[in-house]
Amino acid sequence: MTDHDFKDRVAIVTGASSGIGRALALRLAKEGARLALAARDAERLGALAEECRSLGTRAVPVPTDVGDESQCQRMVGQTHAEFGRIDLLVNNAGIGVGAKFEELSDLALFRRVVDVDFYGTVYCTYYALPHLKKAQGRIVNVSSLGGRLAIPYNTSYVAGKHALMGFSDSLRMELADSGVSVTAVCPYWVATEFHERFMNKEGRPTGQRGRALYTKRTMTADRCAEIVLDAARRRNREVLMFPGGIGLWMKLIAPSLVDRFIVKAFMGPAIRRVSAAKRT
Ligand SMILES: NC(=O)c1ccc[n+]([C@@H]2O[C@H](COP(=O)([O-])OP(=O)(O)OC[C@H]3O[C@@H](n4cnc5c(N)ncnc54)[C@H](OP(=O)(O)O)[C@@H]3O)[C@@H](O)[C@H]2O)c1
Repeated sequence: MTDHDFKDRVAIVTGASSGIGRALALRLAKEGARLALAARDAERLGALAEECRSLGTRAVPVPTDVGDESQCQRMVGQTHAEFGRIDLLVNNAGIGVGAKFEELSDLALFRRVVDVDFYGTVYCTYYALPHLKKAQGRIVNVSSLGGRLAIPYNTSYVAGKHALMGFSDSLRMELADSGVSVTAVCPYWVATEFHERFMNKEGRPTGQRGRALYTKRTMTADRCAEIVLDAARRRNREVLMFPGGIGLWMKLIAPSLVDRFIVKAFMGPAIRRVSAAKRT
């Protein structure tokens, strides 16, 4: 693969049916990458594959629940059978639950979030790795600032994304001589369906009011996809989007202060914006 384009390379994008994954698929299609599009919503994947094909490339929808190991194995096998190689694996599928840990009635939702946000990446990576090694390819794990800096009311999401960062760091070292790179990307908020789908403690999605978290300045999915692909191209180890770098430095110096800031100045206003949207 040249350092500058993904033309004719074979890419798997998980979580491709919406948001950042969809934007990644369209950008990759424009560059001429051949695509396996994975998520659960077969109808959306079919329409996206059609859109990618209309951009002049090959794309196949592969409906997959990444929380299920056997489905990940099948998806990777299908991709290899279809295209004969795998150059890029973007582990992007993700979900979240917003609730106090003690308010969860049982641990099923917690486990589900970790299954999708962490094990989904582990499963896809495990089965794609032999092919990626042959192609000296790239693994990109879409994490979150929550993977480096904890926030409250998101224990499963933060735990899953922290695990993802540890997995990425460890695997990168193991693969140092293999030609396969591991890039972890930690976005701040991106305007997608993520916070509409974000579940409460009963597993019900927030709905349209989840969008109240976003402002005009919130990053678009397409801009995020551009950053993700540039990092993959350069085989960067990690991308920590603003204000993650400042937060991490501050946490080294004054961790309790950062905790208080996150609770009072960050989460408080965010929760109030969503609650106000509920009342309107
Ligand atoms: N938006 C943000 O503010 C933000 C910030 C930091 C990090 N991120 C991360 O960015 C990634 C992409 O999220 P997004 O913002 O683009 O949200 P999104 O619009 O909700 O997209 C999430 C994608 O994940 C897929 N997905 C969910 N559960 C799945 C499962 N079990 N198996 C396969 N696919 C599944 C969804 O498709 P189906 O429903 O069709 O399966 C969808 O395509 C996530 O990992 C998220 O944690 C987002």
